[in-house]
Amino acid sequence: MRGACACAVVCALVAVCGALDADTRAAAERHLLALMGLDRRPSPRAAPRPPVPRAMRLLYEGAAAAHSLPRAAANTARSFTHQPSHLDHRFPNEHRFRLYFNLTAVPQDESARGADLVLQRASSDPLRSSSSQRLLLYDVVRPGRRGHSAPLLRLLDSVPLRDGEGPVTADAVGAARRWLAEPNQNHGLLVRVVEDAPTGADVRAPHVRVRRRAGEDERAWRADQPLLLLYTEDTRAREARERGDTPIARMRRAAQRRGHRAHHRRKEVRETCQRRPLFVDFADVGWSDWIVAPQGYDAFYCQGDCPFPLADHLNGTNHAIVQTLVNSVNPAAVPKACCVPTQLSSISMLYMDDVNNVVLKNYQDMAVVGCGCR
Ligand SMILES: *[C@@H]1O[C@H](CO)[C@@H](O)[C@H](O)[C@H]1NC(C)=O
Ligand SMILES: *[C@@H]1O[C@H](CO)[C@@H](O)[C@H](O)[C@H]1NC(C)=O
Repeated sequence: MRGACACAVVCALVAVCGALDADTRAAAERHLLALMGLDRRPSPRAAPRPPVPRAMRLLYEGAAAAHSLPRAAANTARSFTHQPSHLDHRFPNEHRFRLYFNLTAVPQDESARGADLVLQRASSDPLRSSSSQRLLLYDVVRPGRRGHSAPLLRLLDSVPLRDGEGPVTADAVGAARRWLAEPNQNHGLLVRVVEDAPTGADVRAPHVRVRRRAGEDERAWRADQPLLLLYTEDTRAREARERGDTPIARMRRAAQRRGHRAHHRRKEVRETCQRRPLFVDFADVGWSDWIVAPQGYDAFYCQGDCPFPLADHLNGTNHAIVQTLVNSVNPAAVPKACCVPTQLSSISMLYMDDVNNVVLKNYQDMAVVGCGCR
């Protein structure tokens, strides 16, 4: 059987795309979602879908080009915006504001590998003094009680603010780790902007935007609002990294097992093992409502014969050469070697979770680079 050697990923995708009965289709979809570390398809809240923050879009483009995220070991990036509440009125100024990011939608199996608070610069303001400023970022470990106790703050980062282009980033990983471990101990982050001088006085007109101004247009604010970028590693990625095991090794073993089971092979003139085109269109799979980008991707697949004697360009292992040799002498004893992916590359996907937070995931081994006989 030709299909016997094809890899499981591609089979699942093709199965979802193909005309199948509802049950088989649902099973194939579940299988594919599990592969992506999701227990069900996300159902983002009703349209209109909020725009993807610029920082996430840039991260996606960078990840798609580099096949990785800019944090060691992270395979996921999630973005969060401040959740407004009645507490916002206690912080009427631009130089001292509490930001609350609700991380409860982050799956339990993800651990934080990094967290950046990304702040946009305020447009030039004539009031701004020429002296430089400093941004102080605190984790609110315990909120203050009016007239009773001062808040307990832990300094997370201190970033000098100078005139310049581009957003300002502060490290918030200490707080993010704590919130993931104890969600009910999340009291937000406190952002302060002070003079970068021994006095450390509050500034009148800060360099960065932390809160929405009265009457500010919703769209304009959306582009300028602070963003928390959380980088995480999920269990699958961590286990694979710790084992030093790559999904390709698992796939190769699975393909070999399937190969051994495939006794009745069709006799036909076959093309030799090679990579063949396969474009997976997420619209065909019915996933275009939650996958923001890409719309689809070139997955490729491997198919073809592994004839005796095994040519060099078929990327065979010594074992495959021996197996092919034994097969040529006694086809009943062992099957031929299998045409399988020998080199794979990752893809990055941008999607919306159930609460409309934008998520970027890097999925290992999703596209075939090279095929071979194994
Ligand atoms: C955080 O979001 C969840 C839904 O994901 C919601 O149930 C919860 O009430 C939110 N927490 C706060 C403090 O707003
Ligand atoms: C063997 O592997 C190389 C590199 O991965 C690839 O360029 C080549 O196309 C592969 N051979 C076949 C038959 O796919």
